Amino acid sequence: MCGIVGYIGKKKAEPILINGLLRLEYRGYDSAGIATMEAEGIKTIKNKGRVAGLLEIPETQKLEGTVGIAHTRWATHGKPTDINSHPHMDNQKTTAVVHNGIIENYVELKKFLNDNGYEFLSQTDTEVIPNLIHYYYEREVEKNEMAFLRSMAKAVKDLKGSFAIEVLNEDFKDKMFVIRKDSPLVIGKGEGENYISSDIPAILSFTKDFYLLDDYEFAVLSKDNIEFYDLELSKIFKQPKNITWDMSAAEKGDYADFMLKEIFEQPKSIRETIGARITKGVKTNLEELDFTKEYLNSLDRIYIVACGTAMHAGLAVRKIIEKYCRIQTEVDIASEFRYRNPLVTEKSLCIFISQSGETADTIAALKLAKAKGAKTIAISNVIGSSITNEADYSLYTHAGPEIAVASTKAYTSQIVLLAIIAIYFAELLDVAHDEIEELKSEILELPSKVEEVLRDTSKIKAFANRIFTEKNAFFIGRGIDSSVAMEGALKLKEISYIHSEAYAAGELKHGPIALIENGVTVVGIMTDEDLAPKTVSNLQEVITRGAKTFIVTNQELEHVTFDEVIRIPRISKYISPVLSVIPLQLLAYYISKEKGLDVDKPRNLAKSVTVE
Ligand code: AGP
Repeated sequence: MCGIVGYIGKKKAEPILINGLLRLEYRGYDSAGIATMEAEGIKTIKNKGRVAGLLEIPETQKLEGTVGIAHTRWATHGKPTDINSHPHMDNQKTTAVVHNGIIENYVELKKFLNDNGYEFLSQTDTEVIPNLIHYYYEREVEKNEMAFLRSMAKAVKDLKGSFAIEVLNEDFKDKMFVIRKDSPLVIGKGEGENYISSDIPAILSFTKDFYLLDDYEFAVLSKDNIEFYDLELSKIFKQPKNITWDMSAAEKGDYADFMLKEIFEQPKSIRETIGARITKGVKTNLEELDFTKEYLNSLDRIYIVACGTAMHAGLAVRKIIEKYCRIQTEVDIASEFRYRNPLVTEKSLCIFISQSGETADTIAALKLAKAKGAKTIAISNVIGSSITNEADYSLYTHAGPEIAVASTKAYTSQIVLLAIIAIYFAELLDVAHDEIEELKSEILELPSKVEEVLRDTSKIKAFANRIFTEKNAFFIGRGIDSSVAMEGALKLKEISYIHSEAYAAGELKHGPIALIENGVTVVGIMTDEDLAPKTVSNLQEVITRGAKTFIVTNQELEHVTFDEVIRIPRISKYISPVLSVIPLQLLAYYISKEKGLDVDKPRNLAKSVTVE
């Protein structure tokens, strides 16, 4: 939920750190701060508000140090204030820490430290970390690097919760210390300089070689060297990964916002996700999986578990798996799954979807499923993310970095990849050959059909201009269209703050239609030819009660006049969400822009929910 960066090298750290924070602001933007190693010791500057606010502080650009850490905050414990901003220091001002995550036992640790003479300036959980390190380091007879690492290890063993921690200590002016557990952290390897970040795009312009720390692994960085240790301080060897993304992939380019860029990147991201995985007339190539027909026949259930948009992607593909694999498939919200003691056994296959790969609830749900004996598959967009380290199998959507908080291209890529996995299963089971070949053809046509949907957005923009002042909106659909209604409602509410609700269209008469009055907007999605006539009836019922209607469909709709109809290309209903969601993404985007809101960084939200 926060963003952290670090630099050690020959250049002034301050501009590099500020630039890195600006790229991480989508992870949280309640407050920001920086600490550098200056001649006179560690200097910290921090304040409530955006990263840009740091540059308005005269001292910031006077920082000369070539070693530094920095933080942009999404407040969890303690309001967004100057004093609650990171970095935090120990009482003796010898150690500076920035932290992404939550220390669940900070109250108990605060009491322990208070009993040992420490005082706290902030309301944060993080402030216990530098003081705990100091407590242990003070008791080390020798003051050297290994003694400091031992102190960090002891402190970390006391912590419960999640953390990615960067540490400076004034006894080691040419070193940076990091450790992580559950919260993301990458190390960028440079020439005579090294970098740390919560995620790759923030430092991709400096290097393409990255080390990915596993839980409870330390790294000690100097400008020319990086050493890795486990929690028992045994040295470990790690191979750098070369990331092929180019920097433009993480830039806005000619687009006003990352969200708009990512909506229009969908033909490309879908094409990249398909890659060489499917070819007409050829068995599907998923080298990441080694399943057999016998294994699939042994399954009694498939669980698809995720949060938010990723969960909606799961809802969209449930029907493909059940139709072709005849295996009962359940879709679950990760924060519910992890606490409901699900009936998962070794006869279950559990698929976890996470764009960031760092969503705390989804990771916890995955660990639970593994503990119950299930095979686990992670679907993620971030190479080396926590969820991919945890799962038995990992497959990547190749959507490229998704920066906007509102997920768009990741959603459509997740559906495409999951559809390909369903095809892989069906081919293993040797069922529905002709239908599967037809589905493969339709998937291969998706990029061009998405381009067709994106060709003219004028009607969507015009309707957005009609309704952007409204307070409520309803999204309805049946079957697979109801999952798209949920995704459309989420997009609108999270970036326009209009209260949007999604309902299975058949549910309207069971209560929600009481909310329909003159002028209320109802969005209808109809791509299933068997169910469309029924949804049309539901829409007629709301029209007679004064509703405005915005329809997304590829069906012929007789005898009914809607306020706006966005026609999308015909395609198998099983993958129609990839097309029908796009007008809804754009509708939400244009409404948010019309309201003058920050589309990429909506209030209260962060791109990756790394705390529960
Ligand atoms: C979607 O627009 C939201 N940003 C949010 O629902 C998101 O999909 C959810 O937090 C899951 O994130 P993940 O895919 O990174 O796990």
